[in-house]
Amino acid sequence: MEIIPKNKVGYRHIDCAQVYGNEKEIGLVLKKLFEDGIVKREDLFITSKLWCSDHAPEDVPEALNKILQDLQLDYVDLYLIHWPVRMKKGSIGFKPENLGIPTDIPATWKAMEALYDSGKARAIGASNFSSKKLGDLLEVARVPPAVNQVECHPCWQQSKLHEFCKAKGVHLSGYSPLGSPGTTWLKSDVLKHPILNAVAEKLGKTPAQVALRWGLQMGHSVLPKSTKEARIKENFDVFDWSISEDLFVKLSEIQQARLVRGTSFINETLGHYKTVEELWDGEI
Ligand code: A2P
Repeated sequence: MEIIPKNKVGYRHIDCAQVYGNEKEIGLVLKKLFEDGIVKREDLFITSKLWCSDHAPEDVPEALNKILQDLQLDYVDLYLIHWPVRMKKGSIGFKPENLGIPTDIPATWKAMEALYDSGKARAIGASNFSSKKLGDLLEVARVPPAVNQVECHPCWQQSKLHEFCKAKGVHLSGYSPLGSPGTTWLKSDVLKHPILNAVAEKLGKTPAQVALRWGLQMGHSVLPKSTKEARIKENFDVFDWSISEDLFVKLSEIQQARLVRGTSFINETLGHYKTVEELWDGEI
Protein backbone atom coordinates (compact mmCIF):
# COMPACT_ATOMS: atom_id res chain seq x y z
CA MET A 1 0.00 0.00 0.00
CA GLU A 2 1.23 3.43 -0.88
CA ILE A 3 1.31 5.80 2.04
CA ILE A 4 0.45 9.31 0.93
CA PRO A 5 1.53 11.91 3.47
CA LYS A 6 -1.46 13.95 4.68
CA ASN A 7 -1.53 17.74 4.87
CA LYS A 8 1.72 18.05 2.97
CA VAL A 9 1.99 21.04 0.77
CA GLY A 10 5.03 21.93 -1.25
CA TYR A 11 6.28 23.36 -4.47
CA ARG A 12 6.56 21.30 -7.63
CA HIS A 13 8.46 24.00 -9.52
CA ILE A 14 11.85 24.58 -7.93
CA ASP A 15 13.51 27.75 -9.19
CA CYS A 16 17.25 27.25 -8.86
CA ALA A 17 20.34 29.03 -10.12
CA GLN A 18 24.01 28.26 -9.95
CA VAL A 19 24.68 31.65 -8.37
CA TYR A 20 22.29 30.99 -5.46
CA GLY A 21 24.96 28.66 -4.12
CA ASN A 22 22.56 26.04 -2.76
CA GLU A 23 22.13 23.52 -5.58
CA LYS A 24 24.11 20.82 -3.75
CA GLU A 25 21.73 21.04 -0.80
CA ILE A 26 18.71 21.01 -3.13
CA GLY A 27 20.16 17.95 -4.84
CA LEU A 28 20.39 16.11 -1.52
CA VAL A 29 16.78 16.97 -0.67
CA LEU A 30 15.54 15.91 -4.11
CA LYS A 31 17.38 12.61 -3.82
CA LYS A 32 15.71 11.93 -0.47
CA LEU A 33 12.27 12.89 -1.78
CA PHE A 34 12.69 10.49 -4.72
CA GLU A 35 14.05 7.71 -2.49
CA ASP A 36 11.21 8.11 0.00
CA GLY A 37 8.65 8.03 -2.83
CA ILE A 38 7.20 11.45 -1.92
CA VAL A 39 7.41 12.69 -5.52
CA LYS A 40 8.79 11.36 -8.77
CA ARG A 41 11.24 13.29 -10.92
CA GLU A 42 8.64 13.66 -13.67
CA ASP A 43 6.24 15.32 -11.22
CA LEU A 44 8.69 18.17 -10.62
CA PHE A 45 9.67 21.11 -12.76
CA ILE A 46 13.22 22.18 -12.07
CA THR A 47 14.64 25.42 -13.41
CA SER A 48 18.24 26.55 -13.23
CA LYS A 49 20.20 29.44 -14.71
CA LEU A 50 23.46 30.07 -16.49
CA TRP A 51 25.52 32.55 -14.52
CA CYS A 52 27.12 35.57 -16.24
CA SER A 53 30.68 34.27 -15.89
CA ASP A 54 29.81 31.20 -18.01
CA HIS A 55 28.46 32.99 -21.09
CA ALA A 56 31.38 31.99 -23.32
CA PRO A 57 29.94 29.31 -25.66
CA GLU A 58 32.59 26.76 -24.61
CA ASP A 59 31.69 27.28 -20.92
CA VAL A 60 27.93 26.87 -21.32
CA PRO A 61 27.79 23.02 -21.42
CA GLU A 62 30.30 22.71 -18.57
CA ALA A 63 28.23 25.04 -16.40
CA LEU A 64 25.11 22.92 -16.90
CA ASN A 65 27.05 19.71 -16.25
CA LYS A 66 28.13 21.12 -12.88
CA ILE A 67 24.55 22.15 -12.07
CA LEU A 68 23.21 18.69 -12.97
CA GLN A 69 25.91 17.10 -10.85
CA ASP A 70 25.00 19.31 -7.87
CA LEU A 71 21.26 18.76 -8.31
CA GLN A 72 21.88 15.01 -8.88
CA LEU A 73 19.69 15.13 -11.99
CA ASP A 74 20.01 14.04 -15.62
CA TYR A 75 18.17 17.06 -16.98
CA VAL A 76 16.60 20.35 -15.98
CA ASP A 77 13.13 21.23 -17.20
CA LEU A 78 14.15 24.78 -17.97
CA TYR A 79 17.54 26.46 -18.31
CA LEU A 80 17.72 30.25 -18.47
CA ILE A 81 20.38 32.83 -19.27
CA HIS A 82 20.27 34.49 -15.85
CA TRP A 83 21.12 38.03 -17.01
CA PRO A 84 21.90 39.52 -20.43
CA VAL A 85 25.37 40.32 -19.16
CA ARG A 86 28.66 38.50 -19.65
CA MET A 87 31.25 38.59 -16.88
CA LYS A 88 34.83 37.41 -16.78
CA LYS A 89 35.18 33.61 -16.46
CA GLY A 90 35.62 32.50 -12.88
CA SER A 91 34.78 35.93 -11.53
CA ILE A 92 33.12 36.19 -8.17
CA GLY A 93 31.24 39.31 -7.23
CA PHE A 94 30.58 42.46 -9.16
CA LYS A 95 33.98 44.16 -9.35
CA PRO A 96 34.10 46.55 -12.33
CA GLU A 97 36.97 44.61 -13.92
CA ASN A 98 34.71 41.53 -14.11
CA LEU A 99 32.31 43.44 -16.34
CA GLY A 100 34.79 44.48 -19.01
CA ILE A 101 33.81 41.82 -21.56
CA PRO A 102 31.45 42.30 -24.49
CA THR A 103 28.18 40.45 -24.09
CA ASP A 104 27.31 38.26 -27.08
CA ILE A 105 23.84 36.80 -26.51
CA PRO A 106 23.52 35.17 -29.98
CA ALA A 107 26.73 33.17 -29.36
CA THR A 108 25.64 32.15 -25.85
CA TRP A 109 22.19 31.23 -27.14
CA LYS A 110 23.64 28.88 -29.77
CA ALA A 111 25.34 26.99 -26.95
CA MET A 112 22.03 26.95 -25.04
CA GLU A 113 20.33 25.50 -28.12
CA ALA A 114 22.89 22.69 -28.18
CA LEU A 115 21.91 21.86 -24.58
CA TYR A 116 18.28 21.78 -25.65
CA ASP A 117 19.18 19.44 -28.53
CA SER A 118 21.06 17.18 -26.11
CA GLY A 119 17.98 16.84 -23.86
CA LYS A 120 19.87 18.06 -20.79
CA ALA A 121 17.67 21.15 -20.83
CA ARG A 122 14.11 20.32 -21.84
CA ALA A 123 13.38 23.99 -22.46
CA ILE A 124 15.59 27.07 -22.66
CA GLY A 125 14.87 30.68 -22.00
CA ALA A 126 15.95 34.05 -20.70
CA SER A 127 15.80 35.98 -17.47
CA ASN A 128 15.95 39.72 -16.88
CA PHE A 129 15.58 40.46 -20.59
CA SER A 130 13.80 43.65 -21.66
CA SER A 131 11.27 43.50 -24.52
CA LYS A 132 14.00 44.79 -26.85
CA LYS A 133 16.57 42.19 -25.79
CA LEU A 134 13.99 39.42 -25.99
CA GLY A 135 13.02 40.63 -29.48
CA ASP A 136 16.67 40.65 -30.57
CA LEU A 137 17.04 37.10 -29.27
CA LEU A 138 13.90 35.93 -31.08
CA GLU A 139 15.37 37.31 -34.32
CA VAL A 140 18.40 35.02 -34.16
CA ALA A 141 17.07 32.02 -32.26
CA ARG A 142 16.63 28.65 -33.95
CA VAL A 143 14.98 27.41 -30.74
CA PRO A 144 12.90 30.35 -29.49
CA PRO A 145 13.13 31.13 -25.76
CA ALA A 146 10.23 29.42 -23.97
CA VAL A 147 10.29 31.74 -20.98
CA ASN A 148 11.47 35.14 -19.81
CA GLN A 149 11.75 35.17 -16.02
CA VAL A 150 11.59 38.72 -14.69
CA GLU A 151 10.60 40.73 -11.64
CA CYS A 152 6.81 40.95 -11.69
CA HIS A 153 4.22 41.92 -9.06
CA PRO A 154 1.37 44.44 -8.73
CA CYS A 155 3.87 47.29 -8.17
CA TRP A 156 5.94 46.33 -11.26
CA GLN A 157 3.47 44.83 -13.66
CA GLN A 158 5.71 44.71 -16.74
CA SER A 159 2.85 45.88 -18.99
CA LYS A 160 5.03 46.33 -22.07
CA LEU A 161 6.89 43.04 -21.65
CA HIS A 162 3.62 41.27 -20.83
CA GLU A 163 2.11 42.34 -24.18
CA PHE A 164 5.30 41.52 -26.07
CA CYS A 165 5.59 38.05 -24.54
CA LYS A 166 1.93 37.35 -25.24
CA ALA A 167 2.31 38.39 -28.89
CA LYS A 168 5.43 36.27 -29.34
CA GLY A 169 4.33 33.20 -27.40
CA VAL A 170 7.00 33.54 -24.71
CA HIS A 171 5.81 32.63 -21.21
CA LEU A 172 6.42 35.31 -18.58
CA SER A 173 7.47 33.91 -15.23
CA GLY A 174 7.46 36.37 -12.32
CA TYR A 175 10.13 36.43 -9.63
CA SER A 176 9.65 38.46 -6.45
CA PRO A 177 5.87 38.12 -6.86
CA LEU A 178 5.47 39.44 -3.31
CA GLY A 179 8.09 42.13 -3.85
CA SER A 180 10.60 40.13 -1.79
CA PRO A 181 9.85 41.73 1.60
CA GLY A 182 12.68 41.48 4.06
CA THR A 183 15.42 41.51 1.43
CA THR A 184 18.01 43.87 2.84
CA TRP A 185 19.17 45.20 -0.51
CA LEU A 186 15.67 46.03 -1.77
CA LYS A 187 13.36 48.67 -0.43
CA SER A 188 10.13 46.79 -0.85
CA ASP A 189 6.69 47.84 0.35
CA VAL A 190 4.64 45.85 -2.13
CA LEU A 191 2.64 43.91 0.48
CA LYS A 192 1.97 47.15 2.37
CA HIS A 193 0.61 48.99 -0.65
CA PRO A 194 -2.74 50.60 0.29
CA ILE A 195 -4.51 49.61 -2.96
CA LEU A 196 -3.34 45.98 -2.66
CA ASN A 197 -4.49 45.97 0.97
CA ALA A 198 -7.88 47.49 0.11
CA VAL A 199 -8.44 44.85 -2.60
CA ALA A 200 -7.34 42.10 -0.20
CA GLU A 201 -9.77 43.32 2.43
CA LYS A 202 -12.66 43.36 -0.08
CA LEU A 203 -11.85 39.77 -1.10
CA GLY A 204 -11.22 38.51 2.43
CA LYS A 205 -7.73 37.40 1.37
CA THR A 206 -4.23 38.42 2.40
CA PRO A 207 -2.23 40.94 0.34
CA ALA A 208 0.21 38.12 -0.53
CA GLN A 209 -2.62 35.95 -1.89
CA VAL A 210 -3.96 38.84 -3.98
CA ALA A 211 -0.47 39.57 -5.37
CA LEU A 212 -0.08 35.92 -6.39
CA ARG A 213 -3.59 35.61 -7.77
CA TRP A 214 -3.01 38.81 -9.79
CA GLY A 215 0.03 37.17 -11.43
CA LEU A 216 -1.90 33.99 -12.22
CA GLN A 217 -4.81 35.92 -13.72
CA MET A 218 -2.34 37.81 -15.89
CA GLY A 219 -1.31 34.42 -17.28
CA HIS A 220 2.11 34.46 -15.64
CA SER A 221 3.64 31.87 -13.39
CA VAL A 222 4.63 33.11 -9.96
CA LEU A 223 7.65 32.08 -7.90
CA PRO A 224 6.92 32.94 -4.26
CA LYS A 225 9.20 31.73 -1.53
CA SER A 226 8.68 31.29 2.16
CA THR A 227 10.48 29.51 4.94
CA LYS A 228 7.26 29.20 6.97
CA GLU A 229 4.85 26.32 6.56
CA ALA A 230 1.76 28.44 7.32
CA ARG A 231 2.72 30.96 4.63
CA ILE A 232 3.51 28.24 2.10
CA LYS A 233 -0.02 26.95 2.66
CA GLU A 234 -1.45 30.47 2.49
CA ASN A 235 0.38 31.09 -0.79
CA PHE A 236 -1.12 27.94 -2.32
CA ASP A 237 -4.66 28.99 -1.51
CA VAL A 238 -5.06 31.04 -4.68
CA PHE A 239 -6.75 28.67 -7.09
CA ASP A 240 -10.46 28.52 -6.18
CA TRP A 241 -11.32 32.21 -6.18
CA SER A 242 -10.57 35.17 -8.41
CA ILE A 243 -10.12 38.92 -8.51
CA SER A 244 -13.14 40.53 -10.15
CA GLU A 245 -12.68 42.84 -13.11
CA ASP A 246 -13.37 46.04 -11.15
CA LEU A 247 -10.82 45.11 -8.49
CA PHE A 248 -8.34 44.12 -11.20
CA VAL A 249 -8.71 47.62 -12.65
CA LYS A 250 -7.97 49.05 -9.19
CA LEU A 251 -4.70 47.07 -9.11
CA SER A 252 -3.76 48.49 -12.51
CA GLU A 253 -3.84 51.96 -10.95
CA ILE A 254 -0.90 51.19 -8.64
CA GLN A 255 2.07 53.43 -9.31
CA GLN A 256 4.81 51.37 -10.94
CA ALA A 257 8.40 51.02 -9.75
CA ARG A 258 11.08 48.44 -10.56
CA LEU A 259 12.76 47.08 -7.44
CA VAL A 260 15.60 45.09 -9.02
CA ARG A 261 17.47 47.68 -11.06
CA GLY A 262 20.59 45.64 -11.79
CA THR A 263 22.95 48.47 -10.89
CA SER A 264 25.71 45.95 -10.08
CA PHE A 265 25.92 45.17 -13.81
CA ILE A 266 26.44 48.80 -14.76
CA ASN A 267 29.79 50.51 -15.10
CA GLU A 268 30.25 53.81 -16.85
CA THR A 269 33.70 52.99 -18.17
CA LEU A 270 34.12 49.20 -18.18
CA GLY A 271 30.59 47.89 -18.42
CA HIS A 272 28.88 46.46 -21.51
CA TYR A 273 25.99 48.55 -20.19
CA LYS A 274 26.95 52.06 -19.09
CA THR A 275 23.56 52.96 -17.64
CA VAL A 276 20.52 51.28 -16.10
CA GLU A 277 18.48 52.61 -19.05
CA GLU A 278 20.71 50.65 -21.44
CA LEU A 279 20.38 47.45 -19.43
CA TRP A 280 16.57 47.63 -19.51
CA ASP A 281 16.27 49.50 -22.82
CA GLY A 282 14.31 52.22 -21.10
CA GLU A 283 11.87 49.87 -19.33
CA ILE A 284 12.48 51.32 -15.89
P1 A2P B 1 9.27 34.17 5.13
O1 A2P B 1 10.28 33.23 4.53
O2 A2P B 1 9.62 34.64 6.51
O3 A2P B 1 7.86 33.68 4.99
P2 A2P B 1 9.29 36.86 -2.83
O4 A2P B 1 8.66 35.53 -3.02
O5 A2P B 1 8.54 37.99 -3.49
O6 A2P B 1 10.75 36.87 -3.18
O7 A2P B 1 9.19 37.18 -1.27
C1 A2P B 1 9.79 36.31 -0.34
C2 A2P B 1 9.64 36.91 1.03
O8 A2P B 1 8.26 37.07 1.33
C3 A2P B 1 10.23 36.05 2.10
O9 A2P B 1 11.04 36.88 2.90
C4 A2P B 1 9.02 35.53 2.88
O10 A2P B 1 9.35 35.53 4.27
C5 A2P B 1 7.95 36.53 2.61
N1 A2P B 1 6.62 35.91 2.49
C6 A2P B 1 6.33 34.76 1.84
N2 A2P B 1 5.02 34.51 1.89
C7 A2P B 1 4.46 35.52 2.59
C8 A2P B 1 3.12 35.82 2.99
N3 A2P B 1 2.11 35.03 2.65
N4 A2P B 1 2.92 36.95 3.72
C9 A2P B 1 3.95 37.76 4.04
N5 A2P B 1 5.23 37.53 3.69
C10 A2P B 1 5.49 36.42 2.96
